[in-house]
Amino acid sequence: MFENLPALASDPILGLSIDFKKDTNPAKIDLGVGVYKDEQGNTPILKSVVAAQKQLMETETSKVYITPQGVQGFIDGMLDLILGKGSQVLLANRVAAVQAPGGCGALRILAELLKRCNSDTKVWVSDPTWANHIPLIGNAGLEIATYPYFDKATASIKFDEMMDCLAQVKKGDVVLLHGCCHNPTGADLTKEQWQAVAKLANKVGFLPFIDIAYQGFGEGLEEDAYGVRLMAESVPEMIIAASCSKNFGLYRERVGLAALITHDSANRDIVQSQIQSVARGIYSMPPSYGGALVDIILANDDLNSLWQREVTEMRERMIQLRKLLVDNLAAQGASKDFSFINQQKGMFSFLCISPEQVRKLRDESSVYFVDSSRVNIAGINTKNVEVLAAAIAGVL
Ligand code: LMR
Repeated sequence: MFENLPALASDPILGLSIDFKKDTNPAKIDLGVGVYKDEQGNTPILKSVVAAQKQLMETETSKVYITPQGVQGFIDGMLDLILGKGSQVLLANRVAAVQAPGGCGALRILAELLKRCNSDTKVWVSDPTWANHIPLIGNAGLEIATYPYFDKATASIKFDEMMDCLAQVKKGDVVLLHGCCHNPTGADLTKEQWQAVAKLANKVGFLPFIDIAYQGFGEGLEEDAYGVRLMAESVPEMIIAASCSKNFGLYRERVGLAALITHDSANRDIVQSQIQSVARGIYSMPPSYGGALVDIILANDDLNSLWQREVTEMRERMIQLRKLLVDNLAAQGASKDFSFINQQKGMFSFLCISPEQVRKLRDESSVYFVDSSRVNIAGINTKNVEVLAAAIAGVL
């Protein structure tokens, strides 16, 4: 049965962690997989999460199944966080949603639902986009196409080209947008650009599909939701995949949300039944634990404030690290102006260097990041930044 299967190369992002672990160089630097790290290079459990775990341990009385929909408190808390309390689409009962196994689970079940709606659906993704968007959406059987997004030569968004391309897509096509902290480039749309995309969505009739996995890591929890909220109030229908991996630090617990905004409340109930049936047909129901923690944190004023302070701390540290890297690169006499890194948002930056230069850094200096030149800013610290900057300057 299995003899015809070819062996596959390791995952372009997750495979880096395996290679990094094997590397015996004590000065090795890991800027690969997108996980937050503190100054010591650790990813500790957030204090708000530790407190929620204690509370859950004392109050949970059963491990009986939850439903394919997930926990209502989690869903309501997340929808308020993403769409804003008092959002018109929530008040109008136009939002169907399920708790999902991580942002990945959310992306996949939304793709499966799109396939149920129309098996010929084409999904447009930014060039570049997060590498795993392609299998998560494509393996549901949907066609994928790319729209221009980032210009490596100028380290900025090719907005005019993006708009020209999206103006040509077909009515009913789906356009995947990153809600904030674009992965992999860190280059986000401005408010005016979001407004223009929302207008275009209505004119052309494409369905916006927003992946928001880093809310709070760019400018703030509210600020980072600008695009998704604007879009939700502007278009008749859209879909959203959200993740709690980064902003709650719940990576391995697999906590996410899949939401669909429908044109009216009656259609919402139909869509809700469909997305639950998609979930049931793939994994039956989401893991309960992480969602229960998020539910506790979002519903409790003290824990919510503590969590918001922790998100602020992570965000501000990453902003400082960007500056530290840019300053160190300049101090090392790098032959390229890297000041664009300070304008980028969230956990990632594109260094805009070649895959050969990235591999040289890995082979000769044990600096690990994705071939596209995406670096995880949170992997930098005051102890490794000088060595890192010297290594980067050395390969230019
Ligand atoms: C990343 O982009 O590094 C993270 O989202 C982890 C992953 O699954 O790729």
